Amino acid sequence: MSNARSCDVIILGAGAAGLMAAKTAGARGRRVVVLEVANKPGKKILMSGGGRCNFTNLEVLPSHFICRNPHFVKSALKQYTNWDFIGMVAEHGIAYHEKEAGQLFCDKSSKQILAMLLQECELPNIDIFLETATSKIESNVAGGFNVTTETGVFECQSLVIATGGLSIPTLGGATGLGYDLAREFGIEVYPLSASLVPFTLSGVWKELSASLAGVSLTVDVQTPSNSFYGDMLFTHRGLSGPAILQSSNYWELGQPIIIDLIPNISLEKELLTLKQKGIKKSPLQVIAEQTARSVADKMIDYWWPQEGKKSVLELSNKTIEQIHNTFHQWSLTPSGTEGYRTAEVTKAGVSVDEISSQTMEHKHVKNLFFVGEVLDVTGHLGGFNFQWAWSSGYVAGKNA
Ligand code: FDA
Repeated sequence: MSNARSCDVIILGAGAAGLMAAKTAGARGRRVVVLEVANKPGKKILMSGGGRCNFTNLEVLPSHFICRNPHFVKSALKQYTNWDFIGMVAEHGIAYHEKEAGQLFCDKSSKQILAMLLQECELPNIDIFLETATSKIESNVAGGFNVTTETGVFECQSLVIATGGLSIPTLGGATGLGYDLAREFGIEVYPLSASLVPFTLSGVWKELSASLAGVSLTVDVQTPSNSFYGDMLFTHRGLSGPAILQSSNYWELGQPIIIDLIPNISLEKELLTLKQKGIKKSPLQVIAEQTARSVADKMIDYWWPQEGKKSVLELSNKTIEQIHNTFHQWSLTPSGTEGYRTAEVTKAGVSVDEISSQTMEHKHVKNLFFVGEVLDVTGHLGGFNFQWAWSSGYVAGKNA
């Protein structure tokens, strides 16, 4: 006779997607076991959104996600929408606010979101085991799985992989087990990279960034395939801030990025107008009115130490055009990113080609489900990664 503990559904990972799947499957009466390797559940929820958890967005569209199959996210996002999650947040009396561009944050603390999910999981048929490492997963004769852990073997009918990505390894949950398991089952895993992550610079740009560390300004950042308007922050190592993090989702090592340092005006137009009116103002003065003074000073000193400080009346139209181009099209190639140490997400992951978008179940390996960040679905910054975790977790919980 087998000594294995038997249940209907095992969920690997008590993060955002895993807890959502557990709550949903538990509410259907399924006997659920959640196995979590770390010493606490939902650690990323706790540290998210600067401690206030940007739990979703008022507008969630498929175009907010990067996936090799852009249609894949549609069904789950429709089955469990941002409004469904907002409804649960409201039911639990959690006060929230819109910060910018539809991004919803808790007024008080991200602890409330985790507490809400754990409360939803407080059912007699849901058990959550912490600090439980899984050493082996095998298909069993009953069409389910045997999961071997340090504390014993669990037997289940359905297995939900909610192990997340590789970022912030210090949390103790960046095991990569979901990726390894997918490969073992012959499922493709697309090359992984750290994303929603600051860029690092080298040489003169690194020096310049370090000298401006802590200064923030509004820019437009262009990668070869997308552009983002928003705040950018100079750091000791390079560039950060929302516009940079968003761009990192669309950036590959070796590619240049182009930054418009003064996206709200046309510098050429402003300078030519002043020239026509005979007004003695320098490009430095005009730029300093549009961005942080220290940035204007440093960039002018670097690019146009003489012309930048002269009156426009002394500058040729050609020079004005060149000054315009340097500030509106600062082209630089990041030397890399800060990597998984500070990244919010892991880009790419388990191929969705053979995953049902309706159920999150593998099309050939019956009863095996993948949810959340482990999949080849990466959201923009703004609450979209959590929404993906909630929606995909819900769909698996309905079907596992
Ligand atoms: P998640 O990482 O939440 O959970 C995976 C779980 O599996 C973890 O608990 C892990 O320990 C566990 N695990 C791993 N291997 C295991 C194994 N072998 N056995 C058992 N358990 C295992 N997104 C957003 O929308 N809004 C925001 O405000 C933020 N902010 C933010 C800040 C920071 C600092 C980070 C790092 C990330 C964010 N994110 C975010 C991203 C968001 O946290 C992330 O996309 C979701 O948590 C993904 O949910 P998952 O459940 O897929 O993984």
